[in-house]
Amino acid sequence: MDFQPILDLLEKNGQAHILDHVRRLSPEKREVFCRNLSTLNLPLAFRLYQKFSRQKGSSAHLPNIEPAFVISTPRTPEEIQRRQEAFRLGESLIRGNQIAVLIVAGGQGTRLGFPGPKGFFPISPVKKKPLFQLFAESIQALSTRYRARIPLLVMTSRENREETETFFQSRDFFGLGKDQIHFFSQGMLPTLTPGGKLILGDETSLLANPDGHGGSLKALHESGLAGRLRGQGISEIFYCQVDNPLAKIADPAFIGCHRQEGADISTKVVRRQNLEEKVGIYGMVNGKPAIIEYSDFSPEDYRSLDENGSIRYWAGNIAIHLISLSFVDRLNRQGFALPYHRAVKEVEGLGPTGGNETMAGWKFESFVFDSIPLAQKSCCLEVVREEEFAPVKNQTGIDSPDTARRAMTDLFRRWLEYAGVQVPPGAQVEVSPLFALDQEELAGKLKGKKVVIQEDTYFG
Ligand code: UD1
Repeated sequence: MDFQPILDLLEKNGQAHILDHVRRLSPEKREVFCRNLSTLNLPLAFRLYQKFSRQKGSSAHLPNIEPAFVISTPRTPEEIQRRQEAFRLGESLIRGNQIAVLIVAGGQGTRLGFPGPKGFFPISPVKKKPLFQLFAESIQALSTRYRARIPLLVMTSRENREETETFFQSRDFFGLGKDQIHFFSQGMLPTLTPGGKLILGDETSLLANPDGHGGSLKALHESGLAGRLRGQGISEIFYCQVDNPLAKIADPAFIGCHRQEGADISTKVVRRQNLEEKVGIYGMVNGKPAIIEYSDFSPEDYRSLDENGSIRYWAGNIAIHLISLSFVDRLNRQGFALPYHRAVKEVEGLGPTGGNETMAGWKFESFVFDSIPLAQKSCCLEVVREEEFAPVKNQTGIDSPDTARRAMTDLFRRWLEYAGVQVPPGAQVEVSPLFALDQEELAGKLKGKKVVIQEDTYFG
């Protein structure tokens, strides 16, 4: 392989320190280094650096944001009827083997401080099942309920791919067929210093970061997986993040609403809990629906109230989407259509003296929700937080394993109460997706049985 073009590119972009490093390497290591370099999109990283270094301040100029139309939780008889129709439509699409489930799990999960990919985190309140197991069991239960074939797509980064695959293998794919699960890796982009210099990760590679969850839409296409799924008759992808154990996997009502609206991409939102909750906001930007990260709002706007005294930008993104495969195709047709964002983070790389050093780094990432304004039609559904959103982000405090477990046990407690079972205060309860996917199924299973709960109890 001729590496000269890559070395010329480095020269042209002021990366003499990397060229010096390459010259000091043995021929074997030089070869490895150059091979690693060739897997990274250096021209894109240099272009992004130029773009962001021209920007003044921390973010680009923000356009006007207006509240957007959101389909609310159904209240009137007409709304309830339409939601039931959506549910049945969604069920028919699952039965027709048209739905795949995508879990994005390529993040670095630094805030949680867990040694390993986040999907391995033992989250369920009684059995301490890992996040991945809960998702896999939901898919197994849905496959049985609808006699359907539901592929599970797991997007990892290049860094955690092997570990993730081994985890599934060593647990027998949590009951799913091996050929039902597709692992694929998102791309990596080089991390740069604020001065535009590439950073050495170790002797034979550059420091690079996963290219953001928007990279899932690129990698689906580039890996050929999107094409294979289309060939199998899949038309829609249910998308969720690995960090939310309450995600209602392949929710038929959501799938149905997406279809009823003829949307390219659909989103679930919850009402922001309070002015401080940090979530992306679903709103209108330049006349188009979009999600804007809280960090891109001015603090006054983010905390503003409407004329009724309610939170003006109330629609909090819970990162659950339905995405049509034809839309994924369109987003990739003339090069990848999503824009990139810059995050300034502390990173660790190899310093000039050969030791590890902590420094500021610019990471470039694309966000899946930036596809919303590019859609011909999109749809947004308000859902109930307590039923669908309990993210695991931090080690302690808000959005931590403790709050997620509490939310799970509270939800299962309500299901049990619906089924006529009392749960004493303080007892942890857990319902396996394989036992019941919702309160109706649970009530059906427990009908006519005398269930007394005295301590932590698992229904599986
Ligand atoms: C994200 C959303 C936010 C939303 C919140 C809900 C962004 C920028 N913001 O915030 O609008 O309100 O979730 O919980 O996404 N991931 C990858 N590859 C990557 C980066 C991330 O697969 O390169 C995955 C992670 O594994 C994780 C998910 O994306 O499953 C979220 O990433 P994270 O960066 O933690 O987003 P949040 O800041 O929590």
